[in-house]
Amino acid sequence: MSRFANKVAVVTGGGRGIGQEIARKLASEGAKVAVVSRSASSCGKAADEINAEFPGAAKAYPVDIADHAAVQELAKQVCEDFGSVNILVNNAGVTRDTLLMRMKEDDWDTVLNTNLKGAFNTVKGFMRVLMKAEDARIINIASVIGLIGNAGQANYSASKAGLIGFTKAVARELAGRQVTSNAVAPGFITTDMTDELPDAVKEAVIGKIPLATFGETKDIAEAVAFLASPGARYITGQVLAVDGGMTM
Ligand code: NAI
Repeated sequence: MSRFANKVAVVTGGGRGIGQEIARKLASEGAKVAVVSRSASSCGKAADEINAEFPGAAKAYPVDIADHAAVQELAKQVCEDFGSVNILVNNAGVTRDTLLMRMKEDDWDTVLNTNLKGAFNTVKGFMRVLMKAEDARIINIASVIGLIGNAGQANYSASKAGLIGFTKAVARELAGRQVTSNAVAPGFITTDMTDELPDAVKEAVIGKIPLATFGETKDIAEAVAFLASPGARYITGQVLAVDGGMTM
């Protein structure tokens, strides 16, 4: 199947975890993918792995998405390299978990600047080229925590709830240009980010998941690929929870 033949995708946080799997999935169906992450070694390695399977599909771009000016330069460079962009996946995200009593200003700023401002930065950078592209899609990786909140994650919850609001505003603003904007809200997905959690926390979470298992990165990649595909052309402003039923 090549739903993304002749399509160009940008995936932030594509260096590992969910983002790498999204980039791989889009490449596996024919897309050319700009893999963006903070460090050159991480996006370089991810791009090499994707190219080993799908030769010539991926190119690495080491950029801090919280840096507005750097992201505008990234957008210019990607357009120069690929000619256009059809799919923008805002996946890069960080956590700085701690209870509010102990949360430092820097914990708040780092999370909001990456998870929320980062998406503003990329949409600003790529919106003109997306408005000209065919089947243009913006897909933001939010979180169920942006829907239901979580103790110890006030910064992260606010960033992801903000990202959901941003997704809907962008959907309304760009609908006239046939650019769709949707969010995917993962539940508990096994990655480096969640591996760090203590076992007791993991067990408590499993008890709240009707499907009684953690998700995998490919569960998120499948949902993103659907929203990015021509079959989803009439879906915009939505939040698709991929969470084993956790938030139904
Ligand atoms: P991860 O920590 O494994 O990977 C995050 C990626 O984002 C890395 O490649 C990192 O280099 C990149 N990144 C972080 N800050 C960046 C910055 N300022 N500029 C450029 N790149 C940056 O994370 P994971 O688990 O793959 O999560 C991906 C997304 O999914 C995040 O937005 C996260 O909040 C969200 N999510 C993850 C869940 C999970 O259970 N793993 C659950 C719900 C949402």
